[in-house]
Amino acid sequence: MTGQRALITGGSRGVGAAVAARLAAAGLTIAVHCRSDIAAAEGVVAGLPGSGHIVVSGDIGDPEQVETFVGEAVSGLGGLDVLVNNAAIHTDQPIASTSYEQWRAGWRRVIDVNVHGTANVTWCFVDHLRTRPEGPDGGRIINVGSRGAYRGEPNAPAYGASKAAVHSMAQSLAVSLAPYGIGVAAVAPGFIRTDMAGPMLAGPAGDGIRAQSPFGRVAEPDDVASAVAWLALPGSLWASGAVIDLNGASYLR
Ligand SMILES: NC(=O)c1ccc[n+]([C@@H]2O[C@H](COP(=O)([O-])OP(=O)(O)OC[C@H]3O[C@@H](n4cnc5c(N)ncnc54)[C@H](OP(=O)(O)O)[C@@H]3O)[C@@H](O)[C@H]2O)c1
Repeated sequence: MTGQRALITGGSRGVGAAVAARLAAAGLTIAVHCRSDIAAAEGVVAGLPGSGHIVVSGDIGDPEQVETFVGEAVSGLGGLDVLVNNAAIHTDQPIASTSYEQWRAGWRRVIDVNVHGTANVTWCFVDHLRTRPEGPDGGRIINVGSRGAYRGEPNAPAYGASKAAVHSMAQSLAVSLAPYGIGVAAVAPGFIRTDMAGPMLAGPAGDGIRAQSPFGRVAEPDDVASAVAWLALPGSLWASGAVIDLNGASYLR
């Protein structure tokens, strides 16, 4: 994979940082993206094997910032081959205890970031693949979705809906981008031990969440990153269009 280049959104911690480590170990050069925590993203870059890795930043909920940081990743790495759409937000909004104003604002922000953000980063990446000198063949897109798209997110319905959209987006684009030689797939993880899930895992529901899996634990970030990295490798093209469950047998469908 030496010579291949990947942009990982939300690479400053959690799953994204683990994906960066996996892909750098496989020989790729990485653009580690974050929203605002540049110091954390620089820390991830400093720990990666190999050289030439960079940090880019911007809110994926803002279309102009997306265009800017994808352009910076392209110019900083001399082009891109792989996009991992990993950045997302999770907002608790139980319908029975949320005001109408909070409800509308929460849905708007979650859909702006998780759905429009993923779609816009993807458009900019595909535009780069289509116009780069070597052509688009060999490009890869991996969307990080969630088990919640299938099992439901009773306290975070906008998040669950956004992840169903991210899965569906990957499947639609797998069909429309196959003629360009671009593979597109998604993963649907259950709970992962990261900042996003930290408060729930540390709270009174933590033991129940760990017991959802017959392994008696939640995923470590690398449990998810190993599958995402495989999807970025050339041998995985036939997984294009798949949504791969990564939930430790906690939810079967
Ligand atoms: N954790 C779980 O239990 C779980 C379960 C299923 C699926 N997932 C999915 O796995 C992926 C990674 O989750 P995680 O738990 O590793 O998340 P995390 O620890 O909360 O990290 C989120 C990352 O996304 C970035 N980010 C957040 N909002 C952003 C925005 N508006 N614009 C740009 N970047 C933004 C953050 O950047 P900053 O550091 O600058 O804030 C950070 O790098 C997400 O798609 C999530 O939905 C997580």
